[in-house]
Amino acid sequence: MADERFAFVVVSNRLPVDRVVAEDGSASWKQSPGGLVTALEPVMRQTEGAWVGWIGQPEIILEPFTHSGLRIVPLALSADEVEHFYEGFSNDTIWPLYHDVIVPATYHREWWDSYVAVNQRFADQAAAVADIGATVWVHDYQLQLVPRMLRLARPDLVIGFFNHIPFPAYGLYSQLPWRTQIIEGLLGADVVGLQRVSDAGNFSRAVRRLLGYTTRSPYIEVPRTDDLPARRVIARAFPISIDVEAFEELARSPAVQARADQIRAELGNPKTVMLGVDRLDYTKGIGHRLKAFSELLDEGRLNVADVTLVQVASPSRERVETYKHLRDEIELTVGRINGDFGTIGHQAVNYLHHGFPREEMAALYLASDVMLVTALRDGMNLVAKEYVAARHDEDGVLVLSEFAGAADELRSSLRINPHDIDGLKDAIMQAVDMPRAERRKRMRALRKRVRENDVGHWSRSFLRALSDASGGIDRLGADLDPLGDLEWTVERPPKP
Ligand code: G6P
Repeated sequence: MADERFAFVVVSNRLPVDRVVAEDGSASWKQSPGGLVTALEPVMRQTEGAWVGWIGQPEIILEPFTHSGLRIVPLALSADEVEHFYEGFSNDTIWPLYHDVIVPATYHREWWDSYVAVNQRFADQAAAVADIGATVWVHDYQLQLVPRMLRLARPDLVIGFFNHIPFPAYGLYSQLPWRTQIIEGLLGADVVGLQRVSDAGNFSRAVRRLLGYTTRSPYIEVPRTDDLPARRVIARAFPISIDVEAFEELARSPAVQARADQIRAELGNPKTVMLGVDRLDYTKGIGHRLKAFSELLDEGRLNVADVTLVQVASPSRERVETYKHLRDEIELTVGRINGDFGTIGHQAVNYLHHGFPREEMAALYLASDVMLVTALRDGMNLVAKEYVAARHDEDGVLVLSEFAGAADELRSSLRINPHDIDGLKDAIMQAVDMPRAERRKRMRALRKRVRENDVGHWSRSFLRALSDASGGIDRLGADLDPLGDLEWTVERPPKP
């Protein structure tokens, strides 16, 4: 491996494979679920690319290896780095700040030092495996300094960055003690991709305010500095998606359809099954959803004999204090609701604190009449898109927060403001009572939209922008989409 070089390198905090340790202590690898690896797989295979990332556990040093044709370059984090870089700066500073400070962001200088050091290691590793003139695609908020570090080390590279989470308004972003360094770090890329048009606007505004550079959407003119020549950077929205076809195929399989019927039967065949699926994160608005649901039960607008809410809350970042609190709060609320409204044989909330395989998720989507996505802030929310992709029967109602990136595209959902509990309650009732003809009409429109922009389209558009930005040379030789989709990502005012 020592001198193996790749024309295409993906860099993300987490690798697309999980390490599974069997009872006898032997370790093997399993591809993690999630669209990113599916999206990048065709390009990775065409170009024999490599993926640099962390395996998700501290202190494990591994040699590069190949997993189902994918070259994996693991990067080790020490226990101290997991605490300071991952749990600290990434998930207790940047994560809350970029999600509009739903919980306060914590600023610690030693966390920042660790963030700089770990970003440098990621950059060094990527520089070591990238071929001359290679394309390197860096992902997400954990690695915002990597683009500049990489450009300084390897000016020959074409560098892309995609932020999977929101980029906050300047009034919030300006809290960050290291706000200038982060912006400079990101501007090391040729293309900075963001989820929403508003995120791209927030990013460009931060660049103008902090560095005074000229921006003319989607371009940012970066002048010459002591260490780098003048460059033009592109910053624009590329809304991410899922592998729509694969998900629909899964939902059409007889086994999944049978499982969906079985789930409804196991729930006691209620008139209405409602569903929430989230990582257990304070950005998801799970508490707001439970509040609306319990008030509807309390007021008798919903009856526990007719309706049940299935809440899947997959464990996440469990050593971070705010996540521990959230879990306690949600579980207390669920216990109260079930205690107050449950009857023998009818549970108000079916709470599941674990993740499920894709097959089970597809069956749950098919079994649910109403999908509740009530995020207080969310980069995109792929669960909303999965629900739509699964509903090949053109049934089911999506209640979707306007604070999730998906709301820009999924305009035929029932869009809600999760802070407005009365509005949320009315939308839930509208969903429960919606006639079949309207459900079909809305779901058809949603499905059309989701099909138009699947994850393959997303990755090809990004790589196309990257190839255009670097002089139009299609270095990857991949089949890239033209950038004809600029128009539809522009947010239109909501219908009155
Ligand atoms: C979000 C982030 C990802 C992250 C994932 C899971 O989707 O955008 O970068 O990997 O959450 O979080 P974790 O901390 O477990 O990696």
